[in-house]
Amino acid sequence: MPTNTAVWLTSPTSKSLEVKSAPYTSPGRNELVIKNGAVAINPADWLKQDLGNMMFGWIKYPFINGTDVAGEVVEVGPGVTHFKIGDRVVSHAASICKDYNNSAYGAFQTYTILLAHMTSHIPSTMSYEEGAVLPLGVSTAACGLFQKDQLALQLPSVSPRPTNTGKTLLVWGGSTTVGSNAIQLAVAAGYEVITTASPRNFDYVKKLGASQAFDYNSRTVVADIIHAFKGKTIAGAYSVGQGASEACMDVLNKCEGNKLIAMASYPLPQPPPKHLVLLKTIFYFMSWGISMWFKSKTRGIGMKFIFGDTLIGNGVGKAVYEDFLSKALADGTYIAAPDPLVVGKGLESVQAGFDIQRKGVSAKKVVISL
Ligand SMILES: NC(=O)c1ccc[n+]([C@@H]2O[C@H](COP(=O)([O-])OP(=O)(O)OC[C@H]3O[C@@H](n4cnc5c(N)ncnc54)[C@H](OP(=O)(O)O)[C@@H]3O)[C@@H](O)[C@H]2O)c1
Repeated sequence: MPTNTAVWLTSPTSKSLEVKSAPYTSPGRNELVIKNGAVAINPADWLKQDLGNMMFGWIKYPFINGTDVAGEVVEVGPGVTHFKIGDRVVSHAASICKDYNNSAYGAFQTYTILLAHMTSHIPSTMSYEEGAVLPLGVSTAACGLFQKDQLALQLPSVSPRPTNTGKTLLVWGGSTTVGSNAIQLAVAAGYEVITTASPRNFDYVKKLGASQAFDYNSRTVVADIIHAFKGKTIAGAYSVGQGASEACMDVLNKCEGNKLIAMASYPLPQPPPKHLVLLKTIFYFMSWGISMWFKSKTRGIGMKFIFGDTLIGNGVGKAVYEDFLSKALADGTYIAAPDPLVVGKGLESVQAGFDIQRKGVSAKKVVISL
C-alpha cells in the first residue's frame, strides 16, 4: 500500500494548514487513483480557510481540500474502461462536492481518488503544471454554459465540428481562469464570443477565440458592448468578477436574445477584507441581492448563480471531460489556459499558493508542482 501525505485543514477556525500522513484509499466503481504531479489553487480554497463553516458548511473536519489536479494513473477501479495505469490525466477532484464530501477525493495530497467521467487525458507534450490549470475553470464554465437550468447552450464537439449557431455570448471577465475556459468552450460549441479584460490581456482572450474584447474598467464599457451587439442575437451572459453581473444586466437590457446571466462570482465587499467580517458580508450580500432582484424583475432578465460542482451528476461533466476535452487537447483546438504560475514545489507550498492567489493574479493560474 503506497504511503500518502496530505495538506489538512484541521478545523473551521484554523488559519494554517498541516502537512501530515493520510490514508491511501483504493478506487471504487468507475473511479481511479492518481499520483499527483501538480495541483492548482482556486479562490474557493483560501476562501474556505478564511470563512470556515460559512462556506461549504457540510464539510467535516479534518479535511483535505483542492479541486485542480494533474498526475499519473496508479490504480483503476471496476467499470473503468478508458483509463489504464500509467495514463497522464487532469481531473476535477470532488472532495467538496456534497455527494462525495470525503477527503480521499481532495487534490491536496499525494494520491487522490478521481471520478472517471470527470477526468481527461492530456497530451504527452503537456506538463502536469500546464494541465492542472484546467479542471475547476472548465467545470465552472461548463456548468454555466451547458446546464439546462443555466444558459443551456449547444454542447462543444471536436468531430464533427459544431454547427455555427449564429449567436453571440457575452463573457464578462474573459482573462480569469473561469472566463478563459468559458470563451474556449463556447467557441467550441459554435458561438461567437465578445468578452472583457484589461487591455494587456486583449491579445490573450482573442487567442482563446473571442472576436472582440473591451476594457471592463472603461467608463464607456457597457455602451461600447451594447454597440458591439447591434444586429446580433445574444446567447446570454456569463459573468465573472466583482461588478460583472450588474454590468451584464445593463447590456442584456439593450440586446435581443436570451436574457439570462450565469453568474460565477458571488458578490463580496470591495476591497475584500483579509478575513471577511461576517456581518459586513451578510449585509453586503443582502443589499446586493435586493437591488439585483428588483432590476431583474423590472427588466425581465434572469440571473442564476453557478456552483462549479453540479455538472458531476447531470451529464454535462461526462459530455465535457469524457467526450470532448481529451480529444480537443489532443488535436490542439483547446489549450490549457491561463499559463501556470508555479509558486513552489511540494505540499508544503500549498499555503504559500493560497496567499499568492488571494493577492490576485492576471491571466495566470497559481500552481504547485509535486
Ligand atoms: N461559482 C463557482 O463554482 C466558482 C468556481 C470557480 C471560481 N469562481 C469565482 O470566479 C471568479 C474567478 O475565479 P478564477 O479562479 O477564474 O479567477 P482568477 O483567474 O484568479 O482571476 C484573475 C483575473 O480576474 C480578472 N478580474 C479582476 N477583477 C475583475 C472584474 N471586476 N471583472 C472582470 N475580471 C476581473 C483579472 O483580469 P485582468 O488581469 O485582465 O484585469 C485577472 O486576470 C472568482 O470570483 C471565483 O470565486 C466561482
